[in-house]
Amino acid sequence: MKDLNGLFHHLLKDIYYAEKQIVKALPKMAKATENSQLRQAFEQHLEETKGQIERLDQVFKIIGKEPRGEKCPAILGLVEEGEEVMEKGENGDVVDAGLLAGAQAVEHYEMSRYGTMIAWAKQLGHHKAVPLLEQTLKEEKAADAKLNQIATSTVNREAA
Ligand SMILES: [Fe+2]
Repeated sequence: MKDLNGLFHHLLKDIYYAEKQIVKALPKMAKATENSQLRQAFEQHLEETKGQIERLDQVFKIIGKEPRGEKCPAILGLVEEGEEVMEKGENGDVVDAGLLAGAQAVEHYEMSRYGTMIAWAKQLGHHKAVPLLEQTLKEEKAADAKLNQIATSTVNREAA
């Protein structure tokens, strides 16, 4: 990573790995929740995430690199926290609140990464990558807003 191009490539590999981990985690989270709205949100975001990976494939192509992930310790930590909630939550409502909070942490992580990548892609002149990354950022923000709405309308109250 000797310059911003190198750093951009690194971040791209990192988020590519992260999205693939999320594709593995979301079905487990959907299965673990008893809340139908939350399950639907997880299932919908699973489908979106698959599309986000395809967009990242295109971004690799735009910068002339092979699509390849690189282990991202941040996402592994967040996924592990979610697994802990599923193992240790003593009742379904508490598990739901914990899963929802964990999912929002993941969305915020992704929002910060995509925000940075958009800024760097503009700076580096990867103009074709910008709308792809912006589309994904929009989806992550919408997923986060949806989770917020589910938290306030049902999950938090039931867990309390
Ligand atoms: Fe994502």
